[in-house]
Amino acid sequence: MTPTRLEITRPDDWHLHLRDGETLASVIGHTAQRFARAIVMPNLKPPVTTVAQAEEYRRRILASLPAGMRFQPLMTLYLTESTPAEEIIRARDSDSVFAVKYYPAGATTNSQSGVRELSRVYHVLEAMEKHELPLLLHGEVTDPDIDIFDRERVFIDRHLMPLQARFPGLRMVLEHITTRDAVEFVRGAPANVGATITAHHLLLNRNALFEGGIRPHNYCAPILKRETHRAALLQAATSGDPHFFLGTDSAPHPREAKEADCGCAGLYTAHAALELYAEAFDQVGSLDRLEAFASFHGPDFYRLPRNQDRIALERTPWIVPDEYPLAGSTCKPMRAGESVAWSVVGG
Ligand code: NCD
Ligand code: ZN
Repeated sequence: MTPTRLEITRPDDWHLHLRDGETLASVIGHTAQRFARAIVMPNLKPPVTTVAQAEEYRRRILASLPAGMRFQPLMTLYLTESTPAEEIIRARDSDSVFAVKYYPAGATTNSQSGVRELSRVYHVLEAMEKHELPLLLHGEVTDPDIDIFDRERVFIDRHLMPLQARFPGLRMVLEHITTRDAVEFVRGAPANVGATITAHHLLLNRNALFEGGIRPHNYCAPILKRETHRAALLQAATSGDPHFFLGTDSAPHPREAKEADCGCAGLYTAHAALELYAEAFDQVGSLDRLEAFASFHGPDFYRLPRNQDRIALERTPWIVPDEYPLAGSTCKPMRAGESVAWSVVGG
């Protein structure tokens, strides 16, 4: 008998885009309903590059929480080629910044201020290794001569392996992994290397980009890959291996920014995040592994306490709205107008 109800320790989201201002206010409730904490991405315009900016952003997030909701934002800094090593000391001494994010310049939304040449930030990485501050990697090369579907694999060979050899003690998370190559690299790495996996990369392969026509709402970075890669990700997520943990990469964009001549990358999944992961784990009969992936491996990697309270899910399908309000516009969520098999009880 497959279970119809599941109760687990409240999970955390280890990779999330909350944006700012009215957009932040539109989306924060979805995450706070499900997750106790989230690692908040710093790719605002302008990016969050200092501890002082991260603390201000943290206050804005807390101020936008709907009344009565509890949620702890875990802040990150955006690494640039001019980040001073002293900022790492300030981050270590703060109780609000938990990691530093590496974006290759040009890889994704608001990555223009990212790093062009890794060797220019070696002094910062040295400080991070010393002070044990995790580096979160958007693991894609951006060279125009590399096929878009190979960007992650080539990043691992060209940059990640040399980085690991140069900074063996550096704590690193390969974010939103999408390939079997990444799974194999992370699985074979020591415990100071981890990886987040999104719900959409567990549920969709690249055919979802072209179902009867081009589907801009399924376009994200890193781009969806072929089925063999999706299967490898699902195997990794449900394997019980502590290297792998939950990170939604929920990335809201106004509908018109995605349905455009040059549409933005990012799927919005916060409205059904835990439910979608439950669906993916259920597909392979591994619901009993969801709690460790969603609620234990992340805090263990970040050396934070596991949450104490619990959340219940039941196998009751519901239909996702066609859209959600997003500041003055709307956002089309994953599964818009279609059903999700699991519900959060009381959610
Ligand atoms: C993210 C965004 O919109 O900020 N987009 C995405 O496709 N995942 C940025 C990112 O994490 O790459
Ligand atoms: Zn992201």
